[in-house]
Amino acid sequence: MLKTVLMGHIICITSQKGGTGKTTTSVNLAASLALLEKRTLVVDCDPQGNATTGLGINKKSLSNDLYQAMLGKVSAKDIIIDTGLEFLKIIPSRFNLIRAETRLALKPDSQKILRSLIENLGDAFEYIILDSPPSLGFLSKSAIVAAEWLIIPLQYQIYALEGLGQLLYVVQGIQKKWNADLKIAGILFTMCDNNSSAGTGFAGNGSDSFKNKIFSTTIPWDKLLRFSSDLVKPLALHDIMSKGAKAYLDLAFEVMNLFGNEKANHGHQDHRSKFFNIQDR
Ligand SMILES: Nc1ncnc2c1ncn2[C@@H]1O[C@H](COP(=O)(O)OP(=O)(O)OP(=O)(O)O)[C@@H](O)[C@H]1O
Ligand SMILES: [Mg+2]
Repeated sequence: MLKTVLMGHIICITSQKGGTGKTTTSVNLAASLALLEKRTLVVDCDPQGNATTGLGINKKSLSNDLYQAMLGKVSAKDIIIDTGLEFLKIIPSRFNLIRAETRLALKPDSQKILRSLIENLGDAFEYIILDSPPSLGFLSKSAIVAAEWLIIPLQYQIYALEGLGQLLYVVQGIQKKWNADLKIAGILFTMCDNNSSAGTGFAGNGSDSFKNKIFSTTIPWDKLLRFSSDLVKPLALHDIMSKGAKAYLDLAFEVMNLFGNEKANHGHQDHRSKFFNIQDR
């Protein structure tokens, strides 16, 4: 069992389904926390490198990336790069990360490599957000082993929770073998239309285990989020008043409340209005 080291909150954004909003959530939740002046790091654990691109990083300009660090050629500290936000940094990834599985997966304890890299950062960050690929393979499992909390984005629809049994099985295995501190923060419904509200409209196998673990914040379908990959920056930096940017700010407050960083008697809506007043001045 891995020992707990004093450090910030490590959140893995995961789901084996493709296109559920994992990267959009990683980038925009991280940006919201950074706007609230929380020292935040995104670790792009997906060879697609979408979080890297989404934070405006030109992959061709990189001399190192997460793959080099996982191979032990550079330290995690050396591959952290700045983004357009003062409080937000990223460990970038590129397509070469796909080779991590074949190069490392068979080595003993290789699923701890990512966790060790992150532990070496100590308490430099208050929030570390891991964006995972759409699979339950080596990289996703490594990200779950490294995490304290899981956020599972799902596209809002009836039967959305079906199929979560497989993820739960992997999570329970990791809790037993590697990481007893791992907790599910919640399911996050994404791409919701006007009629969606958290906790309703879902059914199907697997839903019972998750019924009490649904974020009250839901992320609306927003065309600005749809095209956010073209923006190559978090939506809040493009249009802070958009419904997508506001929803991710709400999520940041809900996450901070959940992790005990904010006083429980302050509602997150209340905080958000203060934040917007500050922006308006
Ligand atoms: N709330 C939203 N409203 C509209 N479009 C969205 C929203 N969230 C995400 N999208 C769009 O849906 C697509 C998939 O989102 P995203 O890349 O975040 O999913 P993902 O789970 O990371 O995908 P993958 O499994 O490939 O890593 C992207 O084109 C994204 O811009
Ligand atoms: Mg993604």
